[in-house]
Amino acid sequence: ELEWALIPPREVSQVDGVFLEKNMCNNWDKIWNFQAKPDDLLIASYPKAGTTWTQEIVDLIQNNGDIENSRRAPIHLRHPFLEWVRVIIYVARNAKDNMVSYYYFQTMNKGLPDPGSWDEYFETFMSGKVMWGSWFDHVKGWWKKKDSHPILYLFYEEMMKDPKREIRKVMEFLGKNLKEEVLDKIVNNTSFAVMKNNPMTNYINDIEMNHSLSPFMRKGVVGDWKNQFTEDQNKRFNEDYEKHMADTSLSFFEEL
Ligand code: A3P
Repeated sequence: ELEWALIPPREVSQVDGVFLEKNMCNNWDKIWNFQAKPDDLLIASYPKAGTTWTQEIVDLIQNNGDIENSRRAPIHLRHPFLEWVRVIIYVARNAKDNMVSYYYFQTMNKGLPDPGSWDEYFETFMSGKVMWGSWFDHVKGWWKKKDSHPILYLFYEEMMKDPKREIRKVMEFLGKNLKEEVLDKIVNNTSFAVMKNNPMTNYINDIEMNHSLSPFMRKGVVGDWKNQFTEDQNKRFNEDYEKHMADTSLSFFEEL
């Protein structure tokens, strides 16, 4: 208990009205002006949309399914969190499950602001006053960018429904051609159950995270929001959601 209590939340500031860590804000010019090499790859996502999952898929494809090699280091060292590139993979998740996952993440990650109660967090999330900004701006912004930039836009829900089909899309996007059996191996090794037990993907050794409050690899399902949203919250959410999404062709599945 004491160990977690000693970790102070990271200092927060803003860039264009979006909450970010203060260090990130201070370095924003550098991040904004980052020049990618032609073969650099950026994986982008709103927090808790399936970043880790996508990172592990990409790593295994790039290493031709070499599982031992993919366990060389924790995921955040193999794929450092940078910003900005020419070839991009984006992963999006439906707002309700994303919100629930983010709530539990803020509960267990002592570096992030305390989320308060679920009812309080519901309001915070809807107002967009969460770290990394509004879910709506994020998913819509990247959806628009894909028309003018080489972006592969993935959905968490599609990855759950047909992992092999989605992994094949990533492979083709990366210009690789792997054998069926290698693809099957990657499907297996990027399943929730395997990644939950893999110390190189489950953040078990991250000192900011208190997995006894909520594990990083929490549930990994579509539709968990039904266990969290009250009927009233769901109604209010749906009304608000329609307004926010009126100006986009982007749509999501909330259940499978
Ligand atoms: P839950 O909290 O709903 O379980 P990120 O990597 O962007 O932080 O996202 C974390 C979310 O993705 C968590 O959702 C986590 O359980 C889920 N996740 C991670 N790996 C997964 C996998 N292989 N299959 C399905 N879900 C996965």
